[in-house]
Amino acid sequence: MKRLAIILIIAAIAEITALAQTPQADYRVIPLPDRIDGIKDNVFRLNGSQLIDYPKGNRDMERNALLLSRYIEEQTGLHLSTRPVIKGDAGNISLVLDATMDNDEGYRITVRSKSIEVCGKTPAGVFYGIQTLRKSLPVGCFEAVALPAAQVVGCPQFGYRGMHLDCVRHFFGVETVKRYIDIMALHGMNRLHWHLTDDQGWRIEIKKYPRLAEVGGWRKGTTLGHNSPVNDGIRYGGYYTQEEIRDIVRYAADRYITIIPEIDMPGHMVAALTAYPELGCTGGPYEVWGMWGVHDDILCMGKDHTLQFVQDVLDEVMTLFPSRYIHIGGDEAPRVRWEQCPLCQQRISDLGIHGTDNKSAEALLQGWFTTRIQDYLSKHGRSIIGWDELLGCDIAPSATIMSWRGAEPGAEGAKLGHDVIMSPVGPLYFDYYQTSSTWNEPTAFGGCNTLKKVYDFEPIPTELPEAARRHIIGVQANLWTEYITCEPQIQYQVLPRMAALAEVQWLRPADKDYDDFLARLPHLVDIYKRYGWTYRAKSLTEKDE
Ligand code: ACM
Ligand code: ZN
Repeated sequence: MKRLAIILIIAAIAEITALAQTPQADYRVIPLPDRIDGIKDNVFRLNGSQLIDYPKGNRDMERNALLLSRYIEEQTGLHLSTRPVIKGDAGNISLVLDATMDNDEGYRITVRSKSIEVCGKTPAGVFYGIQTLRKSLPVGCFEAVALPAAQVVGCPQFGYRGMHLDCVRHFFGVETVKRYIDIMALHGMNRLHWHLTDDQGWRIEIKKYPRLAEVGGWRKGTTLGHNSPVNDGIRYGGYYTQEEIRDIVRYAADRYITIIPEIDMPGHMVAALTAYPELGCTGGPYEVWGMWGVHDDILCMGKDHTLQFVQDVLDEVMTLFPSRYIHIGGDEAPRVRWEQCPLCQQRISDLGIHGTDNKSAEALLQGWFTTRIQDYLSKHGRSIIGWDELLGCDIAPSATIMSWRGAEPGAEGAKLGHDVIMSPVGPLYFDYYQTSSTWNEPTAFGGCNTLKKVYDFEPIPTELPEAARRHIIGVQANLWTEYITCEPQIQYQVLPRMAALAEVQWLRPADKDYDDFLARLPHLVDIYKRYGWTYRAKSLTEKDE
């Protein structure tokens, strides 16, 4: 009897010691949940014997379950199978839809000793719960992980939470784009603005105009550095086939990320002009550009053929991208060619366009062109996003403005009734340096957008009148790739700045705290390391004045 008691005591001590040694989940992840409330119960001991249950017949929830299983295995080594259920049993992780929740993208995780429930109003909400749950797990190879009993609730501040990727200045393959999407998913982002056409290359196959990719997809060489007189003379290019684009769009949609393609017009079109010189004012010849900057040659507005070309391209773009928004650029369109082109001037005269004190006839011509495109897309149930230059062209408020030359144009646009996405060069151009001490940094555009500057950015200007505030629908960081040639460099430029952006996108201003964010960052970085992603380690410890 005495011996049995001793054995039982030893067994109990062993159990307590094992539990104490079991690595613990920590729900204080990035972006920080809105609430983490402890529940009086024991821990849930995740050990691989459990299942991930999802509602039978729901394909989105099935995919969510498979993704959660994969994330848990990648981060902890524990394998959990998935199972369709009518009603889940105790003892497992259940993914559940709850129509009574407020926000489409909000989540609620409830951890008890015998169950974990991840709830959302929609499968997207459940997916964000899954991201929070996986980020709370330790990284390594474990026999078990202890999850403290708690209720964890989160809901994003902004519906549009974007990242941009320029695949023109340098071209990146399908797998790189998919990894970028994985990184976005980890950070709770939901819009990928994909820059696909520009002066230096045309990267999307258009069946009606095959020369766009075949000719416009290639440049003869690339300037070294910041537009030095030295050109490397190495033919450079590539493009995505329509099949590849469909694959990437599906991959993103499976992670609740909508891809918004950008076909920049009427400027940044030299690659297209090289393929089809008749689209320009002078008729060419043109050459896909091997330098960076703003080119004077843009689409001719005087030719009906150009307008038809744009519509044809957009027809194919719309079949590939289900996104409500199509980004039509509109930035940096010099008007010198239009001023000298008899056909463009004839168009201005035919339309009865007269310049005003603050808007030239050519600016209004760009407005007319943009409005035609806007009407065309609207007939197909789509809407345009354009860069903030469009505010100078008299366009309808139904166009969404992407504010890049600071936050001020966005504020003006919101006052005029435009929806606005904030992505100002300072601090949201992630092709800018991350430090003022640039000696040991990979070449970047210039500037200095530190982690702290990104964290401190507030997309809704404090002085903006109440009626205009609701027009700030989101916030995005941009990654132009003039000086970014390979995937590790992409990751270096965005990590960990994307972590700071994620809190800007998800948290209410009063809940932001930079020191607290820095304390939570190393665990997220452990996840970056687990996946072999490159990141700027110095940003974790550097003092930012
Ligand atoms: C831009 O950076 N030209 C939008
Ligand atoms: Zn012209």
